[in-house]
Amino acid sequence: MVQRLTVIGTGYLGATHAACMAELGFEVLGLDVLPDRIERLAAGDLPFYEPGLPEVLRRNLENGRLRFTTSYKEIAEFGEVHFLCVGTPQKPNEYAADVSFVDSAITSLAPLLTRGCLVVGKSTVPVGTASRVSELLRRLAPSPEVELAWNPEFLREGYAVQDTLRPDRLVVGVESERAERIMREVYARQLAEGVPLVVSDFPTAELVKVSANAFLATKISFINAMAEVCEATGADVTKLSQALSYDDRIGGKFLGPGLGFGGGCLPKDIRAFMARAGELGVDQALSFLREVDAINIRRRIRMVDLARHLLGGSFRGRKVCVLGAAFKPNSDDVRDSPALDVAAEIRRQGGDVTVYDPQALDNARKAQPDLGFGESALDAATDAEVVLLLTEWKEFRELDPEVLGARVRERNIVDGRNTLDPERWRTANWTYKALGRP
Ligand code: UDX
Repeated sequence: MVQRLTVIGTGYLGATHAACMAELGFEVLGLDVLPDRIERLAAGDLPFYEPGLPEVLRRNLENGRLRFTTSYKEIAEFGEVHFLCVGTPQKPNEYAADVSFVDSAITSLAPLLTRGCLVVGKSTVPVGTASRVSELLRRLAPSPEVELAWNPEFLREGYAVQDTLRPDRLVVGVESERAERIMREVYARQLAEGVPLVVSDFPTAELVKVSANAFLATKISFINAMAEVCEATGADVTKLSQALSYDDRIGGKFLGPGLGFGGGCLPKDIRAFMARAGELGVDQALSFLREVDAINIRRRIRMVDLARHLLGGSFRGRKVCVLGAAFKPNSDDVRDSPALDVAAEIRRQGGDVTVYDPQALDNARKAQPDLGFGESALDAATDAEVVLLLTEWKEFRELDPEVLGARVRERNIVDGRNTLDPERWRTANWTYKALGRP
């Protein structure tokens, strides 16, 4: 039975995977090329916010099942299965994904693999990457018993631990029965609990990941497109969404209208998917994703317009409070964050913007140093002429309109996530505006 796993790349995905696999009883050695990150992780200090993960990390460091290193030699000697969890960011000024971290991990690891093992790709990659990596691995590895499998990851930030320990499904792309058998051993516990497993070839496994994200992005942009139509007709998109959700062919998840999607995955993945489709000569098949992306960006513009309108047509010298910087609640991630994007645009248009977020302030400050930052929601709202709720943290949803009203100069609020009760705010003499609602 497989006992010893390694995890290459200890960013969001890798750190979670390493800690959770140790939690399941494996001996795990995590590797990163960044010594700082390895030092922090080895000390039990998680470099990002993820509910529940620090406890899993520390518990498994203490019981000795989880360790970290910067040495490829050490992981090559240690691992029976090596998980590849490096990032594949969007290339600068291009739609395509940058897979150079995948290639450099393989070129560092492969020449050290002197006995049989399975290398398992988890990174999100353009379809076709796994076949190429498999060839590279065979060419560089001294042992003939080194093989590749592709096992895409679907975890959501904020739910990373539960999504890893008990995923909705497991997808494994393999080229041999041996690889399938090893993957079944690694995920024996999840399979015994009834998690469905789909075994496929490489390209199918790679495509499941990007098509899942394309579908989710499309669902969000669909309801946000309906919000645009609602705005032109006086209809209420929250009621519309509710009514659609009772049709179980449609379902209510990812049908929440508002400021749209952001983060390190959905925007980047749909763009990389379009770029890859272009290379494959099937760009027409995915041209709808261009519109999905455009609808998503238009929501941010609409948000800025609504706020400016409330201030009589200009932000110049006006005090704007922005609640939320993370791309979604329960995260400190500001990558492609709709909230931070809106805040930065209002600043560009001359607004005096103060942002507050319960977890993402440090990251927001690094990404947008020109913005003002508050110590709390009430602090950020002091003397504001308009308040924008852009990330639906629980503490924002629970704000008392009277308490907030006592801090601001003007009682104007725009609910960018359709998360407040309009009646409650209007009764407290607020001018309440939202996306897709009259
Ligand atoms: C996503 C996928 O869900 C996950 O399976 C994949 O592995 C990585 O990408 P994540 O980026 O963590 O996960 O966030 P998710 O919860 O999917 O939310 C994405 C964005 O969509 C957020 O900005 C969120 O605010 C937005 N969203 C979500 C909506 O605007 N409306 C909704 O109804 C749901």
